Amino acid sequence: MTNLYSKIIGSGSYLPEKILTNHDLAKIVDTSHDWIFERTGIEQRHIASKNESSVDMAYKASLKAMSMAQLSSNDIDMIIVATSTPERKFPSTAVLLQNSLKVEQGFAFDINAACTGFIYALDVADKYVRAKVAKNILVVGSEKMSSLLDWKDRNTCVLFGDGAGAVILSESTAPGVLSTNIGSNGSYKDLLTVNIDPEFIEMKGNDVFKIAVKTMGKLAVSTLEKNNITIDQVDWLIPHQANSRIINAIAKKISLPSEKVILTVNKHGNTSAASIPLAFDDAYHNGSLKKGNLIMLEAFGAGFTWGSVLLKF
Ligand code: UT7
Repeated sequence: MTNLYSKIIGSGSYLPEKILTNHDLAKIVDTSHDWIFERTGIEQRHIASKNESSVDMAYKASLKAMSMAQLSSNDIDMIIVATSTPERKFPSTAVLLQNSLKVEQGFAFDINAACTGFIYALDVADKYVRAKVAKNILVVGSEKMSSLLDWKDRNTCVLFGDGAGAVILSESTAPGVLSTNIGSNGSYKDLLTVNIDPEFIEMKGNDVFKIAVKTMGKLAVSTLEKNNITIDQVDWLIPHQANSRIINAIAKKISLPSEKVILTVNKHGNTSAASIPLAFDDAYHNGSLKKGNLIMLEAFGAGFTWGSVLLKF
């Protein structure tokens, strides 16, 4: 019997037109370009317009992913959107996206695992493909993080940005997703949170930083061990883009040269569940990712949640 895999056959992304630089932020709060850049690696982020929602951004990214995969609305049998910034409480962002894309079959739902959302979504999508429930799944990360920011809080407002990334995960007999690994621990719920009222991101940054490095480092090692591969076989690491210092620390921990790490946090800031598909699409379009590459995706976020995906592109 031939093995059945899920495989990424299309990718697309969307970034809002407006760019907010560190210098712009220094006019709003007590901060500086140097502080933000040195502590996070961020130089700028995109900010959605007032009327632009996570559905609108997801729609634009999805059209590009479908075009690359040469699929039309009739071919999509499942949609998952990873988001913490839905347009409405319900219907879900995924169902609204289904409507925008004029997908009239299948089913759609959201996943909220904060910054790990896209990894959770890939984990679920892979299982639906291999269970033969769906053949072509649209998996999206879309976030309007700017809607959750207290623009008077310099601890958080300098860190985040808006955008969307999408992939098509399809049934394949050639190797694609090789393994997925997700986890969570709710006892850390108060270190990084958005309460209902006021609806702002609150974070104990330094605590999150340390646990993120430790968890993602361990996760990368266990992903390699589980798949019986060594680090030199990995072509690219695409980590969640929250802080270049976190990313560099993980790469060092697993002895991965920085040339093999995709870094977009400088341009995008932390776009939560959108960060990995945005980085993936950026790296694909600048020619870094090539067909056949072995890629490790890895994320960490509020909850805490974490996860990795090892895949052949
Ligand atoms: O996406 C999910 C996961 N999220 C993350 O991974 C984020 C993890 N955390 C981080 O990336 C870092 O902890 C931050 C970038 C948020 C902060 O960097 P840090 O090196 O941990 O700094 P800190 O929080 O320890 O703050 C150091 C100082 C403080 O001043 P004092 O108390 O030492 O006088 C802050 O008040 O930096 C100050 N500070 C700022 N200064 C200028 C905090 N934010 C700013 C700012 N501009 N924007």
